[in-house]
Amino acid sequence: MRRVNFYILLVLTLMVSCAKSGNEPGYEYMPDMVYSQAVEAYSESSVTPNGASMMYPPKGSIARGYKVFAYGNTDDEKERAGEELNDPREFSDKRLNRGQMLYEKMCLVCHGKTGAGDGPIATKYTEPPAFNGRALRNYKPGQLYHAIVKGYGDMPSHEVQLDDNDRWDVILYLKKLQTLE
Ligand code: HEC
Repeated sequence: MRRVNFYILLVLTLMVSCAKSGNEPGYEYMPDMVYSQAVEAYSESSVTPNGASMMYPPKGSIARGYKVFAYGNTDDEKERAGEELNDPREFSDKRLNRGQMLYEKMCLVCHGKTGAGDGPIATKYTEPPAFNGRALRNYKPGQLYHAIVKGYGDMPSHEVQLDDNDRWDVILYLKKLQTLE
């Protein structure tokens, strides 16, 4: 029995003496997987098929919440978007105000405050047609949506800047600009 006590004491003493000081980890007995090898997301890798440690998403994968816009970049496809796409949400003043805020941030620079095509940089760039002019007055919401996502001529696409809800809110405001005298 004495012998056993002695060994227990010995083991306990050894365990306590492992700690050099309270601020150091001390000796480690079998650290095994304590220290994982972190892989930098954008570094090279000899293991993955694309040679980068972060692999590409599988072909055809889409981000959660992303809505696929399955229309081509032609006038016919814009017509089709006009026939098929409609604002899925109810009108509200709150949405209209939000649409105006987004318009003034994203579109006003070229299209101008009232949508007349006279924004501050339009004269240096290409002057867009007026929203209440002959070309755009009768554009349906889906056609406007198409123009926002795909861009048109000299107008760049705004697909990345505005999500689905934002686009429909902006369109509520464009509809208002279309009716200006
Ligand atoms: C960098 C300047 C610029 C910005 C920013 C811009 N547009 Fe345009 N937009 C244009 C120009 C230029 C045209 C005319 C393009 C042409 O006829 O080649 C145009 C055309 C359009 C058209 C008509 C497309 C068609 O089919 O005839 C719509 C609708 C439109 N813009 C909406 C918007 C909306 C909504 C925004 C903001 C989200 C926006 N634009 C931001 C420059 C711009």
